[in-house]
Amino acid sequence: MRFISVQQALDKKRGTVDLRGWVYQLRKLKDKIFIVLRDSSNIIQCIIEEKSKTWKDANKLTIESSIEISGILRQDKRAPTGYELLISRLNIIHIAEKYPIPVRKQYLSPELLLDWRHLWLRDPKMQSSLKVRSTVFRAIHEYCRSKGFYEFQSPILTSGAAEAGPSQFKVDFFGKPLYLTQTWQFYAEAGMFSLEKLYTIAPSFRAERSKTSRHLAEYWHAEVEAAWFNLDNLIDFSEGLVKHIIKRVLEKNKHELEVLKRDTKSLQTAIKKKWPRITYDQALKLLKEKKKMKISWGKDLRTIEEDRLTELFDTPVFVTHYPKEIMAFYKPRDKKNPKTARCFDLLAPEGYGELIGGSERDTNIKELIKSLKAAGEKVENYKFYLDTRRYGSIPHSGFGLGVERVISWLCKLEHIRDAIPFPRTMARYKP
Ligand code: 4AD
Ligand code: MG
Repeated sequence: MRFISVQQALDKKRGTVDLRGWVYQLRKLKDKIFIVLRDSSNIIQCIIEEKSKTWKDANKLTIESSIEISGILRQDKRAPTGYELLISRLNIIHIAEKYPIPVRKQYLSPELLLDWRHLWLRDPKMQSSLKVRSTVFRAIHEYCRSKGFYEFQSPILTSGAAEAGPSQFKVDFFGKPLYLTQTWQFYAEAGMFSLEKLYTIAPSFRAERSKTSRHLAEYWHAEVEAAWFNLDNLIDFSEGLVKHIIKRVLEKNKHELEVLKRDTKSLQTAIKKKWPRITYDQALKLLKEKKKMKISWGKDLRTIEEDRLTELFDTPVFVTHYPKEIMAFYKPRDKKNPKTARCFDLLAPEGYGELIGGSERDTNIKELIKSLKAAGEKVENYKFYLDTRRYGSIPHSGFGLGVERVISWLCKLEHIRDAIPFPRTMARYKP
């Protein structure tokens, strides 16, 4: 193919090239027109001079018009990516209507950008976080498959078995109420008896009334379930997985992290060090001693407490053994410390909160029923789940990772909505 990408042209540095893409910026002077051309790979400054035979056509160009061009490359330190293309041929594919998003970067309100999200996806920063997203998805598949995990799918429409905490979206299913899934976990636990080690990356839905920079109503959930794994095995696997994701993003998305102005020092640190593992009790002690925050035993850690706690570490940190009473029904009691559950959360540094929640799974039907009742759940909704414990029950563990939470941290985004192309939040369901 004759056309090369903008990045390939920048790498080539000299000679004649054929490029195609969109007019990202445009500056029309009396005797020159500057075009910044963008494609999926990068941007390059291009110039058309008055004496050129393309001058007349070039004057018709508008922001986001699509074009094919040929020209000669030359180094130019003042150009945004260091090179300039002197255009000798211009073929207009489409003249864009007046672009509704102001290009000169004055303050653009987040609401405006969300209204125009279908166009804003073209912005280099959005483009960069979307590319990081693509690397993250691939890295999860790579890691899980390299460890012998099978990809396994659970239904999105579920009959009601759910996490106790967050609430569910109701769907009219031929006149019956069904719910959008919050987790594949309960189906995965059934699948575990067949495949032993399984994973998925799929949408999860949470009808939480939280308007924070960390919550989406629809997010992508990477979940893992493994036969014979105990809490330590599970934490080792989580650390390996997230480190693999970071490594891949550092390798593959250097340019994108630069566009996002992400200082990668903390990511480099995170892959070098072993991540601390502390218990909930130790977390309370640290918060009291180092942050003057007194939390009474038995209360869940709130965002503010997680944030203060993670300030004490320069890598993600595992917090284990939360109080049993405030945990989901399936997290088993720790025999040595029965007030706590055999579970963990992985908390990100730099204020990005909980990346992963996971636990061993309770295999004791009586305990499970007791916990379900204590949580005010209808035990009959969990019949199939309890059945899994009746036929060859074994120890097993699993976790869920919020893919957009990880992307937000890796890219140091201000808001989780920029980690997903078309965000769904309490305040936003269009476009
Ligand atoms: O801690 P959660 O609720 O755990 C579960 O759903 C388990 N059933 C997972 C499992 O063991 N298979 O959710 C897991 C992760 C959280 O740590 C967080 O990263 C992410 O999902 N998450 C959200 N991400 C974006 N928006 C939301 N509203 C989220 N709620 C949870
Ligand atoms: Mg959680």
